[in-house]
Amino acid sequence: MTHGPAARVDTGRLWERHQRLARHGATSNGGVNRQALSPEEFAAWREVIAWGRELDLAPCTDRAGNLFLRCAGTDANAAPVLTGSHLDSQPSGGKFDGVFGVLAGLEAVQAIRESGMALRRSIEIVAWMNEEGSRFAPGMMGSAAFTGATPLETFLDIRDAGGISVRDGLAALRAAFPELPSCPLGRSVAAYVEAHIEQGPILERERYAVGVVTGIQGKRTFRVTVRGEEAHAGTARLDERKDALLAAVRMIHALDDAMRATDDIVKFTVGKLDVTPNAPSVVAGTATFSLDLRHVDSTTLASLGDRIPAMCAARAGPCNVEVVELTRAMSLAFPETMTSVIRERASALGIPVMDVFSAAGHDARFLHAVCPTGMIFVPCKDGISHNPSESAKPEDLAAGARVLAETLVVLANR
Ligand code: GLV
Ligand code: MN
Ligand code: MN
Repeated sequence: MTHGPAARVDTGRLWERHQRLARHGATSNGGVNRQALSPEEFAAWREVIAWGRELDLAPCTDRAGNLFLRCAGTDANAAPVLTGSHLDSQPSGGKFDGVFGVLAGLEAVQAIRESGMALRRSIEIVAWMNEEGSRFAPGMMGSAAFTGATPLETFLDIRDAGGISVRDGLAALRAAFPELPSCPLGRSVAAYVEAHIEQGPILERERYAVGVVTGIQGKRTFRVTVRGEEAHAGTARLDERKDALLAAVRMIHALDDAMRATDDIVKFTVGKLDVTPNAPSVVAGTATFSLDLRHVDSTTLASLGDRIPAMCAARAGPCNVEVVELTRAMSLAFPETMTSVIRERASALGIPVMDVFSAAGHDARFLHAVCPTGMIFVPCKDGISHNPSESAKPEDLAAGARVLAETLVVLANR
C-alpha cells in the first residue's frame, strides 16, 4: 500500500455510510425503495451534504435536480473532474446500486484531502437525478439534461403513477433545500469516472475486487399502450369484445418468442403492466406495458427494436395500439485514455483488475458524449441487483474507492 490517498480510504467508514443511507426508504425485507425526488431521497441528500460539509465541500444543485459537492482545486478556471452516480433506487432496490458511486466519490475525496495531495482541477461528487426511471420514465434524466442530450423541458411534464410531474418533483426539491446554491446545467467537465457495483456475476466468479469497465450495452425502451373497450364480464360476447389486456398478452408473448429466437444474449423485459379499470368483472379498456430491450450488438438492437411496432400492431385484433420509444441508446466503448489510467492506478496499488463490459445502464453513458469517461466496477454477491438482497463486501467497496481516489488525482492534475 502506498502513502497516497488510497491508504486513507477507510473501509469501515465507507461501509457504515452505505448502512446509514439505506435507512432512507428502508423496506421491511432489508431493501430500499428511494424514488427520485421523493422525501426519502431528500433525506439521503441531507446526509450526503452534511458529510460533504464536514470536509468543506461546497454543495450546489442545477435545474435538473442533480446534486454536486465541490472539492476546490487550485485552478478555479479549470473544468472540474466529476465522479458519482445516483441515490434513487428501484422500488425493490438494494443498498448499493448508485449509492456506492456517490459514497466512493466522497470517500475518495476525503482520502485525498487527508493525504494532503494537491489538486489542480476541482473534483465534484455528483448524484444524478432519476437514474432508475422507475418513478418517472425514462431514467437518467439528470445526466441527459446536464449533458444536453435531452433538453430538461422534455422531461418536465412526465408524471409518476400518482400524477405528480417531474416539474412538481423539482419544485419539491427546491422547497426542501431553499438555501442550496444553484449551478448551471451543461458546464464543461474535464473527465467523469463512475464507480458502481457490477450488477452481474463475472467479477465475483473470477475473483477480482475491481473491474475496469470497457463499455456499456445498448438499450432501447418503449411504452406500449393498447386501447380497447370496457364491457361487462357477464354479458359481453367474447367475439364482440375489445379486450386490451388479452391483446397486450398476445403482443408480449409474440415479442418474447421473437427476442428469444434471436440469440442467447439478447435481454428482453416487460417489467410493468397497468390495466384499467383493473376490475375482475370488467373487460380491460386499456393495457399499458413497458419494454426494455438490450443487446451488445448495435445492429441487432436496432433491427430488433424496429420490429416492435409492427409486431404489436399485428396482434392488436380489434384494439388500437400505440408504441412510443422512450430510450434509444446504442452500445458504447469508453476511451482507452480512461481505461488505461484506471488500470495503471490499480496496478500501482497492487490491486488485480479485469476488463468487464457493463450489461447495465449508467449515467456514464451520457457523460461519455461530452467528456472522457470511465467506470470502475466492484463485485456484488451472486451478481444480484435490483433486488432487496443486493449485497457487496466492505473490502471490495474499499478497493474500488482506492482505485477511484488514485484515478481522480491523476485526472485532476492532468
Ligand atoms: C439501470 O439501472 C439499468 O436499468 O440498467
Ligand atoms: Mn445504478
Ligand atoms: Mn439500478
